[in-house]
Amino acid sequence: MLLSVVILAAGQGKRMNSDLPKVLQPLAGRPLLAHVLNTARALEPTNIIVVYGHGGAQVQAALPDEGVDWVLQAEQLGTGHAVMQAMPIIPDDHRVLVLYGDVPLIRAETLRSLLGAAGDPPEAPPSPTLALLSALAQDPTGYGRIVRDSANKVRAIIEHRDANSDQLAIREINTGVLVAPAKALRGWLSALKNDNAQGEYLLTDATAIAVKAGAPVGAMLAADESEVTGVNDKIQLAAAEAAYRSARADGLMRAGATLADPARIDIRGEVSVERDVFIDVNAVLVGRVHLGARVKVGPNCYLRNATIGADTEIFANSVIDEVAVGENCRIGPFARLRPGSVLQNEVHIGNFVEVKNSRIGTGSKANHLTYLGDTRVGSDVNVGAGTITCNYDGLNKWPSVIEDGAFIGSGAMLVAPVRIGAKATIGAGSTITSTAPDGKLTLSRARQTTIEGWNRPNKFGEADKAAAIDLALQKPKDR
Ligand code: UD1
Ligand code: CA
Repeated sequence: MLLSVVILAAGQGKRMNSDLPKVLQPLAGRPLLAHVLNTARALEPTNIIVVYGHGGAQVQAALPDEGVDWVLQAEQLGTGHAVMQAMPIIPDDHRVLVLYGDVPLIRAETLRSLLGAAGDPPEAPPSPTLALLSALAQDPTGYGRIVRDSANKVRAIIEHRDANSDQLAIREINTGVLVAPAKALRGWLSALKNDNAQGEYLLTDATAIAVKAGAPVGAMLAADESEVTGVNDKIQLAAAEAAYRSARADGLMRAGATLADPARIDIRGEVSVERDVFIDVNAVLVGRVHLGARVKVGPNCYLRNATIGADTEIFANSVIDEVAVGENCRIGPFARLRPGSVLQNEVHIGNFVEVKNSRIGTGSKANHLTYLGDTRVGSDVNVGAGTITCNYDGLNKWPSVIEDGAFIGSGAMLVAPVRIGAKATIGAGSTITSTAPDGKLTLSRARQTTIEGWNRPNKFGEADKAAAIDLALQKPKDR
């Protein structure tokens, strides 16, 4: 049977106390709704319908090109009302899966089992089965409760605020997620009333209606409570972030990484590792990050959209952003690799070295206090401490080329565009403005002189000192 997924995302999220609509609150660096959309897409449904309302334009703008049907719920009259808004564009022969913009950690695998539990008869007519996803909560406060009869059959869902003391003691909670055939759901929804404390059309009431209509209703327990946590306030948002982080950390460890402390790693994206990776504390891994076999990541490193080759070691406090690093490299401590950089194998980038949009060839080293920007560095180059590629003239960025085997003395200024030839040597402290030929020593320095008869300054009196400062700081025309 064809599947339509409806994602409820119209609520304001009053409990967030935020100008940002709830479903745009970031989890692992992406809006809550983006997580749910991703999971929905993994099920390959015929269509995905997002019911939006509060902050509508902002929500749509934040999730462009998502290939979904947006349905407006102009007034937020309850979760049942929200689903009703989507029903007109869902054909009768579809099954409907309802997801929530504020239940972001639900896994596709769990949804697949729920769809399985709901039965998927290949031929019409669809069985009018309502399948709910429930969970056993440590603390069920705030959730709807699954009410079962003496035969353990689901009878109804009672919202926390409507529950009596017996019902409040029930630990089986409603995750909100459900599957039902479109045609039957349409009927149940049309029977919803808003004569409750909230004055809303509650999707949860559809359960009792379905039971009354004699439809088979079942609730499947989610294996893991954390995956179905609703995010209604900043405390639950932080709890969801922690759950996400811990699930990702587990994934890395299963793939063979050793984590110095799984509670002190932040994963905000798709991180993959090969065997025997070691990650020290406080690593922040963002976007798409791949760590090759035996890579070591030191404490306090930030890696975003980076691939790191096998056996490379990244020392403490390094930042690697949109960079491909080869095998057997040594990076940091305190290195900064910026977007567009590619490091081949066995490259050493040391402390306080910044590399931007540059290609560094095999075996090349820049170990201390250096800026390489828009530079192509060949192999086996040694860049001395304090070398700067002067790539910016105030208006334009210019490239530099340093050929294989060059040796750049410390404190060199390479004024781009400039080429340093193969096996060229640049004398320390040189400012290089034009091509340095292959294999030769190029220097540009004032000749060292010693001034005879020079004396160290005397201690000035206050008045003399003030007069000297006045004179020195006059603008030229005043002199
Ligand atoms: C809901 C369920 C509750 C369940 C809990 C699980 C109802 C009545 N209650 O409660 O049984 O335990 O989720 O997390 O369904 N929304 C709309 N339009 C509306 C109202 C809500 O789109 O008119 C959206 C919200 O944006 C949110 C979702 O529906 O994404 C759930 O609404 P929320 O108010 O958070 O419901 P809960 O009180 O959490
Ligand atoms: Ca909620």
